[in-house]
Amino acid sequence: MTFRTLDDLGSDLGDVTGKVALVRVDLNVPMREGSVADDTRIRAVMPTILELADAGAKVLLLAHYGRPKGQKNSTMTLSWVQGGVEDVLGREIMFIPELTGPVAAQAIGILGNGDIGLMENTRFWPGEEANDADFAAAIAENADFYVNDAFSAAHRAHASTEGLAKVLPAYAGRAMEAELKALDAALGNPEAPVAAVVGGAKVSTKLDVLENLVGQVQHLIIGGGMANTFLAARGVDVGKSLCENDLTETANAIMDKADHAGCTIHLPYDVVVAPEFAANPAGLRTCNVHEVGANEMILDIGPQATEALADVLKTCRTLVWNGPLGAFEIEPFDTATVALARTAAALKQDGSLTSVAGGGDTVAALNHAGVADDFSYVSTAGGAFLEWMEGKELPGVAALTA
Ligand code: 3PG
Repeated sequence: MTFRTLDDLGSDLGDVTGKVALVRVDLNVPMREGSVADDTRIRAVMPTILELADAGAKVLLLAHYGRPKGQKNSTMTLSWVQGGVEDVLGREIMFIPELTGPVAAQAIGILGNGDIGLMENTRFWPGEEANDADFAAAIAENADFYVNDAFSAAHRAHASTEGLAKVLPAYAGRAMEAELKALDAALGNPEAPVAAVVGGAKVSTKLDVLENLVGQVQHLIIGGGMANTFLAARGVDVGKSLCENDLTETANAIMDKADHAGCTIHLPYDVVVAPEFAANPAGLRTCNVHEVGANEMILDIGPQATEALADVLKTCRTLVWNGPLGAFEIEPFDTATVALARTAAALKQDGSLTSVAGGGDTVAALNHAGVADDFSYVSTAGGAFLEWMEGKELPGVAALTA
């Protein structure tokens, strides 16, 4: 995969001093009482912003917030996020309430070299989600080049994620560059054997992921509620566990496809069950998958299965992880996820495993296990990470490689 990065700016455009950069970032961050509650996404784009500003460019940040559906909505203004961005950058920035027209032009005219402006929520205008070419051209009128540093929004073909790349010289920012390199090392050109962990509640939300992975990886580890659907398809009585019985045929088809592709699907053979989903509930026990009672539900995979999965990871060179193995939000159903995450982290520290993880729940699970920093790469992208695992081309990325 080849794409232009900030390293190409000099040869393409010469000195960027005084040039206006439109930088697409993802500021769709959790807020609490009017303040940024988690600044991970802001910290991720800080290197790109400061690199450009320190090179003398006038930096205009473009981002969406929420889903205002093409209308101005005071509860979704990016001015709420301005303070959080300033805190991370350690610099004052100017808020610009329009993307186009005289107000935008006047504000941008005030910016000095190296100054940073934060533009209003791109989704306040219908041209954004419609990927309207005139809208993109109107935004581009005030700028010299475009940088996309928002992998997590790259699955959207919107004006600010895709359209602008068609009308301005376009580059991947540092965060986008790191993300694309990490993802390429995990599924694009990975070192085999490759293992994938796919967990989460429902098979239906990750069908395309599973379909794609069985053709790409040597070991597919299925956990969470999804595993129950696969177990049921194999004739296991999963009691009152979460299970999508209407998908047993689909699960069988995926298992057949895996067989033909030489991919081993790993399902648990021991599980942790309880009559109810509560912290340390009465009746909690570990049993063989064939011994789940009619009034019990599977809430985590068992210790023997966890150990076997650790042994599988020890034979692998690459790991891609999305979704927890059990109902990890409540103890003790976090046990398998934490144990396997720690095994993966240790193998990465030993240098034997390249490990890439992504998705909101997964990041939370790795943080909970205390190993998020011990993975080769952890993506905070949600939908974009899943679409990438589905093998889809992301419009925002494709626009940079064109
Ligand atoms: C995200 O938060 O996952 C991204 O910012 C994309 O947001 P969206 O799903 O509203 O497009």
